[in-house]
Amino acid sequence: MSAGDRFAAAGTAAPPRPLDPRALRADVPLLAPDRPGGRIVYLDSAASAQRPRVVVEAMDEYYSTTHANVHRGIYAIAEEATRRYEQARAAVGRLIGAPRPEREIVFTKNATEAINLVAYAWGRHELRRGDVVVLSEIEHHANFVPWLMLREEIGVELRYLRLGADYHLDLSDLDRLVDGARLVAVTCASNVLGTVVDLSPIVTSARRAGALVLADGAQLVPHRPLDVRALGVDFLAFTGHKMLGPTGIGMLWAREELLDAMPPFLGGGEMIRDVRLDGFTPTDIPWRFEAGTPPIAEAVGLEAAVRYLEGIGLERVREHEVALTAYAIERLEAVHGDRVKIFGPAPDPLRRSGVISFAVEGVHPHDVAQVLDTRNVCVRAGHHCAKPLMRRLGVSATTRASLYLYNDEEDVEALVDALGEVRRLFR
Ligand code: ALA
Repeated sequence: MSAGDRFAAAGTAAPPRPLDPRALRADVPLLAPDRPGGRIVYLDSAASAQRPRVVVEAMDEYYSTTHANVHRGIYAIAEEATRRYEQARAAVGRLIGAPRPEREIVFTKNATEAINLVAYAWGRHELRRGDVVVLSEIEHHANFVPWLMLREEIGVELRYLRLGADYHLDLSDLDRLVDGARLVAVTCASNVLGTVVDLSPIVTSARRAGALVLADGAQLVPHRPLDVRALGVDFLAFTGHKMLGPTGIGMLWAREELLDAMPPFLGGGEMIRDVRLDGFTPTDIPWRFEAGTPPIAEAVGLEAAVRYLEGIGLERVREHEVALTAYAIERLEAVHGDRVKIFGPAPDPLRRSGVISFAVEGVHPHDVAQVLDTRNVCVRAGHHCAKPLMRRLGVSATTRASLYLYNDEEDVEALVDALGEVRRLFR
């Protein structure tokens, strides 16, 4: 079974009931149709999703009724805060099929910090000069820079999986690239191209070579069922704010025995068992990696987001996004195909997400985004924290529309119409 099939297999067998994006938008205060200034057509969820009211209310209720620091107080509200914080860990673990979330999920600030945690605590401990780390050229900077820092600091060798003409990773030379590697660190889905990476052959090749696999799940965990056991990876980094949760909280899932063998990352309170004048003893996982006061209210909000997603069903989210992405690409090509070039693979139920990057011939992506903004259509323009990929594509920037569960054909039509305005203005 390929990794894509595993994503699919993690969902229900019966065809899921279609989503009602308009009803879902009613759950999200910022997407209200009667918003002063007009309804926002939000097509930037790959940068950050909008959160439903239940998430905001959960955090508000927590601060109003319960807040205290966690793992410290012996009074009732402190114990309740601790319970809720740890309950969020369990919820996140449930979402990704983590066998022992209470040991394997570390709360971080974001996905970037989760990857840095691996680079610092595992990488600086395990890697020596000349050790090989394999990346791909479609990574977000979050999965380049920590390893480039290790190249400068330790002298690790970096190798790269390249992008093929079909906008998928070229895996034809996979075994040779991975041979002798200690780690393969690769995204589950590109934040620029919408390419969903087939992790299965990568994991198989890495296993054969004795390498570990880190998957950057920031762009996939919010969008489809995913099970870390079936994926077979060793580390999975992802973030709360792209999955309807608050900003300021991200997650690292790691196999328990790996995490247990890793030395601490940041030092301070919470992460120790004992501190003496001449040394310290770190505490157990996962708290060993959670120095200082953690993002408690954010965890409460995140748990509400997980419950909301579970209530909808990620298989339904996936089905909806697959259909809407196919519709959007078809409409963009039909109406603007003469002047709009899409950077990304063809629609595909398993291998393509709802991220659609494009160029409007003769118009800078920032100008495109600015004109779209005059119609309340929110897209991202720029290098998307993926400069190596921009170089590979031969552009300095793209405009990017990204779809989520609350988007629908009406939003796509608003984009298509607004692009007509761009073309009129830059004729
Ligand atoms: N990583 C986020 C994006 O791709 C910020 O837009």
